[in-house]
Amino acid sequence: MRSLRAILVPAMAAGALWSVPPVPAHPGPAVRHGPTASPEILQQALPAGVTEAMVREGEKLYSGAGLCSTCHGPDGKGIPRLAEDLTDARWRYSDGSYSGIVSTIEKGVSAEQSTTGIPFPPRAGANLSDAQVKAVAAYVWTLSHHGG
Ligand code: HEC
Repeated sequence: MRSLRAILVPAMAAGALWSVPPVPAHPGPAVRHGPTASPEILQQALPAGVTEAMVREGEKLYSGAGLCSTCHGPDGKGIPRLAEDLTDARWRYSDGSYSGIVSTIEKGVSAEQSTTGIPFPPRAGANLSDAQVKAVAAYVWTLSHHGG
């Protein structure tokens, strides 16, 4: 019966572990970091005129047709000597509001203004439509507004 005991004892020990009551969830709002438009981020109040669908579309544009990830990195944290972090609370070319971000994407940043000497072409040089600019701006807005 040695082999049965060898199976049962660890199984019982595991059973005891499973019966430990779950640790209560940490109180307070969830703080999320990272580029994913998580459900927690989408639950918070989005800026006026922004819908969840726009954020989702913007997320696709960010790493797809919008070309944003090629300069700002797949996680939005920036690429040294190329383009800056879009996930922090520091904004150089606007007040970081949704409309400010829209306007930066529309206008771009000239090579003279840019701290890296690399220009940010208007609409990322990707011929984005007005609706696409708004969607990608909505996504970028969520990157720096983690849970409020
Ligand atoms: C060719 C490279 C390149 C591409 C592609 C690009 N950017 Fe940028 N972006 C830059 C550079 C360079 C800056 C200015 C960085 C600096 O001055 O440090 C910038 C700045 C910005 C800013 C201003 C940040 C602030 O502090 O105010 C926003 C917002 C932004 N980009 C969003 C986007 C979005 C959204 C896309 C895709 C639609 C995109 N960028 C694509 C290079 C790029």
